[in-house]
Amino acid sequence: MTPNITESLAASKTEFYQDLEEQVQAVVDGQRNWVTNLANTSALIYHGLRAVTGKPINWVGFYLLDQDHASSSSTTPRKDSLILGPFQGKVACTTIEFGRGVCGTAAQENRTLLVKDVHEFPGHIACDAASNSEIVVPLELDGRVIGVIDLDCEVVEGFDEVDQAGLEKVAKILVQTCDWRGVV
Ligand code: SME
Repeated sequence: MTPNITESLAASKTEFYQDLEEQVQAVVDGQRNWVTNLANTSALIYHGLRAVTGKPINWVGFYLLDQDHASSSSTTPRKDSLILGPFQGKVACTTIEFGRGVCGTAAQENRTLLVKDVHEFPGHIACDAASNSEIVVPLELDGRVIGVIDLDCEVVEGFDEVDQAGLEKVAKILVQTCDWRGVV
């Protein structure tokens, strides 16, 4: 029986993520600088996923814990913040407080957020009005969120559980293999 298009797309996406794991491992082999490794990983995901899915994925990148921006004072408690890291796509907002938007919420709650329609996510930050769906995966080091992977797509339901599982594996590889000096 010939598999239908949805099934073969799911199969090729699963294969894509298996290959991606190997490619990310190859990229970080002998290189521990986080800027370098996240830059190459965002390129691998952006170009690879667009080609495999045919979906208009318009942004792939990272936000990292911003040690220089702790909004602490004698009256307000310190609030962690994220700062824009390496990415592929259009210019994006530079800082996001924990608890704000999809990225800040995923960081604060330390869990992946798979948002099928960003217009239904209260507080979504629209860096690019063309984005309609999003997935954000935390990077967790020793129980602390040190950043997130963020992907945007121009259509609703641009991402699914296959993306979630694949990106969570990539997040683990990066956390374990990079030197996070300057982030933590
Ligand atoms: N939409 C994100 C902001 C980052 S951009 O998508 C690149 C959010 O709501 O956190």
